[in-house]
Amino acid sequence: MRSTADFIPENYSHPIETGQFQVSAPSNIALVKYWGKKDHQIPANPSLSFTLKHCKTITTLSFAKKETEEISFDLLFEGLPKEDFKPKIQKFFERVHKYSPFITSYHFTIDTRNTFPHSSGIASSASGMAALAMNLMSLEKLLNPEMTEAYFYQKASFLARLGSGSACRSIKGNVVVWGKHDEIPESSDLFGVAFPSEIHAIFNNYQDTILLVDKGEKQVSSTLGHDLMTGHPFAESRFAQAHDNLSKLKIVLQNGDINAFIAIVESEALTLHAMMMTSLPYFILMKPNTLAIINAIWKFRGDSNIPVCFTLDAGANVHVLYPEKDKIQVLEFIQNQLVAFCENQQYICDTVGSGAVLIDS
Ligand code: DP6
Repeated sequence: MRSTADFIPENYSHPIETGQFQVSAPSNIALVKYWGKKDHQIPANPSLSFTLKHCKTITTLSFAKKETEEISFDLLFEGLPKEDFKPKIQKFFERVHKYSPFITSYHFTIDTRNTFPHSSGIASSASGMAALAMNLMSLEKLLNPEMTEAYFYQKASFLARLGSGSACRSIKGNVVVWGKHDEIPESSDLFGVAFPSEIHAIFNNYQDTILLVDKGEKQVSSTLGHDLMTGHPFAESRFAQAHDNLSKLKIVLQNGDINAFIAIVESEALTLHAMMMTSLPYFILMKPNTLAIINAIWKFRGDSNIPVCFTLDAGANVHVLYPEKDKIQVLEFIQNQLVAFCENQQYICDTVGSGAVLIDS
């Protein structure tokens, strides 16, 4: 079992002066939700997500050795300076410095862009932090070429977690578990791991159509939202429920029991929002159109027997989940009945993908 100390390097064997990497890292959608955390980005309960394929952040990291020892970087978004993203990256560098001490020896230029629209209400923190963590690990691998592939990915996920919890599930694997769970021996609070068992064929290329109900800024940031679980009257039973739902989902992902899958996934989404509605202060992040979509999905599922279901993030957008074989009928249903509830009729078609990749070095 790895501990935090395993991620503190002793020395670097190869000096490197300058260079550049480009990484692409996807977003992910949680089926069992992470909501509540302890110090140092340790989750209050284990979570499980599908990795997405098309919603990605692509980040180029250029680095040049410097004389002085401090954190130094320029940040570009779509090629242009973006000052308001800098504090988050500064904080990330401060948090990871203990584990990647080389970062104060370089000046970095970070140029980042997303494949999804900027104001879509889709958080870019998971894909963005995963892309940056993969870039840092690519540099660490140059400094320490003897590192194993397993260590590379574990530490990339470990670093990404320090940027944003859910980012640690955007590194490697189609289905990723983060947070210690008794029935998944490889699982860890420190990093995400690929779901260790074979998955039923029905979940291959599972579809996620993201309906953009509200493209505005989030009403409550997830960092603030997690804090609301501290002292929440239902916190302990919610955390226990997440363990239980993960146990059930583990079986369902292997046996392909789609009705059980739907029940777990929709209940998790509604529980996440129930936690927000019952915290102090309380929030309702769903919009009337979110509920209209949920009701339409339930009606369509009842009428057609097609196993389409939904999940939600900490916002109003709806992720519509369904098997690839039902794609034509579900997209027709979305076009005919759901698009009217989306802001500017916008939605994004995505599918399960396999994680972050180094595009160029
Ligand atoms: C509702 O990972 O965005 O999407 O660790 O504070 O950056 P921080 O939070 P974040 O929280 C994600 C919450 C969620 C559920 C999930 O993705 O599991």
